[in-house]
Amino acid sequence: MLSQKTIEIVKSTVPVLKERGIEITTVFYKNMLGENPEIKDMFDSGKQKDGSQPKALAMTVLAAAQNIDNLAVLMPAVQSIAKTHINVKVTKEQYPIVGKYLLGAIKEVLGADATDDVINAWAEAYGVIADVFISVEEKMYQEQGK
Ligand code: HEM
Repeated sequence: MLSQKTIEIVKSTVPVLKERGIEITTVFYKNMLGENPEIKDMFDSGKQKDGSQPKALAMTVLAAAQNIDNLAVLMPAVQSIAKTHINVKVTKEQYPIVGKYLLGAIKEVLGADATDDVINAWAEAYGVIADVFISVEEKMYQEQGK
Protein backbone atom coordinates (compact mmCIF):
# COMPACT_ATOMS: atom_id res chain seq x y z
CA MET A 1 0.00 0.00 0.00
CA LEU A 2 1.21 3.46 -0.86
CA SER A 3 1.17 6.08 1.86
CA GLN A 4 -1.06 9.13 1.51
CA LYS A 5 2.09 11.25 1.24
CA THR A 6 3.43 9.17 -1.66
CA ILE A 7 0.09 9.41 -3.45
CA GLU A 8 0.03 13.19 -2.97
CA ILE A 9 3.59 13.65 -4.25
CA VAL A 10 2.97 11.51 -7.33
CA LYS A 11 -0.32 13.19 -8.19
CA SER A 12 1.09 16.67 -7.72
CA THR A 13 3.98 16.00 -10.12
CA VAL A 14 1.92 14.31 -12.86
CA PRO A 15 0.83 17.61 -14.54
CA VAL A 16 4.36 18.98 -14.95
CA LEU A 17 5.62 15.60 -16.16
CA LYS A 18 2.78 15.34 -18.66
CA GLU A 19 3.55 18.83 -19.92
CA ARG A 20 7.09 17.70 -20.57
CA GLY A 21 6.00 14.28 -21.78
CA ILE A 22 7.82 14.45 -25.10
CA GLU A 23 11.09 15.27 -23.38
CA ILE A 24 10.62 12.46 -20.85
CA THR A 25 9.73 9.88 -23.46
CA THR A 26 12.61 10.91 -25.69
CA VAL A 27 15.20 10.64 -22.91
CA PHE A 28 13.61 7.40 -21.64
CA TYR A 29 13.66 5.61 -24.98
CA LYS A 30 17.02 6.89 -26.12
CA ASN A 31 18.73 5.68 -22.95
CA MET A 32 16.80 2.44 -22.47
CA LEU A 33 17.03 1.23 -26.07
CA GLY A 34 20.57 2.51 -26.46
CA GLU A 35 21.79 0.53 -23.49
CA ASN A 36 19.59 -2.57 -23.96
CA PRO A 37 19.77 -3.81 -27.55
CA GLU A 38 17.72 -6.94 -26.74
CA ILE A 39 14.79 -4.69 -25.76
CA LYS A 40 15.26 -2.51 -28.82
CA ASP A 41 14.62 -5.52 -31.04
CA MET A 42 11.21 -6.00 -29.41
CA PHE A 43 9.93 -2.63 -30.56
CA ASP A 44 8.48 -1.99 -33.97
CA SER A 45 11.09 0.18 -35.68
CA GLY A 46 8.49 2.11 -37.71
CA LYS A 47 6.67 3.16 -34.56
CA GLN A 48 9.98 4.12 -32.97
CA LYS A 49 10.69 6.39 -35.88
CA ASP A 50 7.37 8.22 -35.88
CA GLY A 51 7.51 8.50 -32.09
CA SER A 52 4.09 6.93 -31.44
CA GLN A 53 5.37 3.99 -29.39
CA PRO A 54 7.73 5.93 -27.11
CA LYS A 55 4.85 8.25 -26.35
CA ALA A 56 2.41 5.43 -25.59
CA LEU A 57 4.43 3.63 -22.94
CA ALA A 58 5.66 6.56 -20.88
CA MET A 59 2.43 8.55 -21.17
CA THR A 60 0.48 5.50 -20.02
CA VAL A 61 2.61 5.32 -16.89
CA LEU A 62 1.87 9.00 -16.22
CA ALA A 63 -1.85 8.46 -16.83
CA ALA A 64 -1.80 5.43 -14.56
CA ALA A 65 -0.05 7.44 -11.85
CA GLN A 66 -2.89 9.92 -11.91
CA ASN A 67 -5.17 7.05 -10.88
CA ILE A 68 -2.71 5.52 -8.44
CA ASP A 69 -5.36 5.51 -5.69
CA ASN A 70 -8.03 4.01 -7.96
CA LEU A 71 -6.28 1.43 -10.12
CA ALA A 72 -9.55 -0.34 -10.96
CA VAL A 73 -10.33 2.31 -13.60
CA LEU A 74 -7.16 1.30 -15.44
CA MET A 75 -8.00 -2.37 -15.78
CA PRO A 76 -9.63 -2.26 -19.25
CA ALA A 77 -6.56 -0.46 -20.63
CA VAL A 78 -4.20 -2.82 -18.80
CA GLN A 79 -5.97 -5.86 -20.25
CA SER A 80 -5.60 -4.50 -23.76
CA ILE A 81 -1.94 -3.44 -23.40
CA ALA A 82 -1.14 -6.77 -21.74
CA LYS A 83 -2.30 -8.55 -24.91
CA THR A 84 0.24 -6.56 -26.90
CA HIS A 85 2.89 -7.35 -24.30
CA ILE A 86 2.13 -11.07 -24.50
CA ASN A 87 2.47 -10.95 -28.29
CA VAL A 88 5.93 -9.40 -28.06
CA LYS A 89 6.83 -11.65 -25.08
CA VAL A 90 7.43 -9.05 -22.39
CA THR A 91 8.73 -10.71 -19.22
CA LYS A 92 8.31 -9.66 -15.61
CA GLU A 93 12.08 -9.26 -15.34
CA GLN A 94 11.91 -6.42 -17.87
CA TYR A 95 9.68 -4.21 -15.71
CA PRO A 96 12.49 -3.02 -13.40
CA ILE A 97 14.52 -2.08 -16.48
CA VAL A 98 11.70 0.09 -17.81
CA GLY A 99 11.29 1.53 -14.30
CA LYS A 100 14.96 2.40 -14.00
CA TYR A 101 15.01 4.36 -17.26
CA LEU A 102 11.67 6.02 -16.65
CA LEU A 103 12.82 7.25 -13.24
CA GLY A 104 16.08 8.40 -14.78
CA ALA A 105 14.14 10.39 -17.38
CA ILE A 106 11.86 11.91 -14.73
CA LYS A 107 14.94 12.92 -12.75
CA GLU A 108 16.61 14.46 -15.76
CA VAL A 109 13.55 16.44 -16.80
CA LEU A 110 12.57 17.65 -13.31
CA GLY A 111 16.14 18.68 -12.50
CA ALA A 112 16.34 20.39 -9.10
CA ASP A 113 12.67 19.60 -8.43
CA ALA A 114 13.48 15.89 -8.42
CA THR A 115 14.03 15.67 -4.67
CA ASP A 116 14.60 12.31 -2.98
CA ASP A 117 10.97 12.39 -1.82
CA VAL A 118 9.74 12.85 -5.39
CA ILE A 119 11.95 10.14 -6.85
CA ASN A 120 11.14 7.68 -4.07
CA ALA A 121 7.42 8.33 -4.47
CA TRP A 122 7.64 7.68 -8.22
CA ALA A 123 9.67 4.53 -7.69
CA GLU A 124 6.98 3.21 -5.37
CA ALA A 125 4.16 4.20 -7.72
CA TYR A 126 5.86 2.61 -10.72
CA GLY A 127 6.32 -0.57 -8.68
CA VAL A 128 2.59 -0.72 -7.96
CA ILE A 129 1.66 -0.10 -11.62
CA ALA A 130 4.20 -2.65 -12.84
CA ASP A 131 2.81 -5.25 -10.40
CA VAL A 132 -0.66 -4.79 -11.89
CA PHE A 133 0.68 -5.45 -15.41
CA ILE A 134 2.86 -8.35 -14.25
CA SER A 135 -0.01 -10.17 -12.54
CA VAL A 136 -2.41 -9.70 -15.50
CA GLU A 137 0.28 -10.90 -17.92
CA GLU A 138 1.25 -13.84 -15.74
CA LYS A 139 -2.37 -15.00 -15.87
CA MET A 140 -2.44 -14.63 -19.66
CA TYR A 141 0.80 -16.59 -20.07
CA GLN A 142 -0.65 -19.35 -17.85
CA GLU A 143 -3.86 -19.46 -19.90
CA GLN A 144 -1.80 -19.70 -23.07
CA GLY A 145 0.06 -22.65 -21.63
CA LYS A 146 -3.15 -24.63 -21.16
C1 HEM B 1 4.08 -0.33 -16.43
C2 HEM B 1 4.86 -0.47 -17.47
C3 HEM B 1 4.38 -0.42 -18.91
C4 HEM B 1 3.39 0.30 -19.50
C5 HEM B 1 2.45 1.29 -18.85
C6 HEM B 1 3.39 -0.03 -20.91
C7 HEM B 1 2.53 0.50 -21.86
C8 HEM B 1 2.49 0.14 -23.20
C9 HEM B 1 1.58 0.68 -24.18
C10 HEM B 1 0.52 1.73 -23.91
C11 HEM B 1 1.84 0.08 -25.36
C12 HEM B 1 1.15 0.36 -26.70
C13 HEM B 1 0.43 -0.84 -27.23
C14 HEM B 1 -1.01 -0.97 -26.89
O1 HEM B 1 -1.67 0.03 -26.58
O2 HEM B 1 -1.53 -2.10 -26.97
C15 HEM B 1 2.92 -0.85 -25.13
C16 HEM B 1 3.49 -1.65 -26.09
C17 HEM B 1 4.68 -2.33 -25.94
N1 HEM B 1 5.37 -2.48 -24.76
FE1 HEM B 1 4.82 -1.80 -22.96
N2 HEM B 1 4.37 -0.95 -21.15
C18 HEM B 1 5.01 -1.21 -19.96
C19 HEM B 1 6.05 -2.10 -19.76
C20 HEM B 1 6.75 -2.71 -20.76
C21 HEM B 1 7.93 -3.54 -20.57
C22 HEM B 1 8.54 -3.90 -19.22
C23 HEM B 1 8.35 -3.93 -21.80
C24 HEM B 1 9.55 -4.79 -22.09
C25 HEM B 1 10.62 -4.34 -22.58
C26 HEM B 1 7.43 -3.36 -22.77
C27 HEM B 1 7.49 -3.55 -24.13
C28 HEM B 1 6.52 -3.19 -25.03
C29 HEM B 1 6.57 -3.52 -26.45
C30 HEM B 1 7.70 -4.28 -27.14
C31 HEM B 1 5.40 -2.99 -27.02
C32 HEM B 1 4.99 -3.09 -28.49
C33 HEM B 1 5.69 -2.00 -29.23
C34 HEM B 1 5.50 -1.96 -30.70
O3 HEM B 1 4.41 -2.25 -31.21
O4 HEM B 1 6.50 -1.60 -31.32
N3 HEM B 1 6.46 -2.64 -22.10
N4 HEM B 1 3.30 -0.80 -23.81
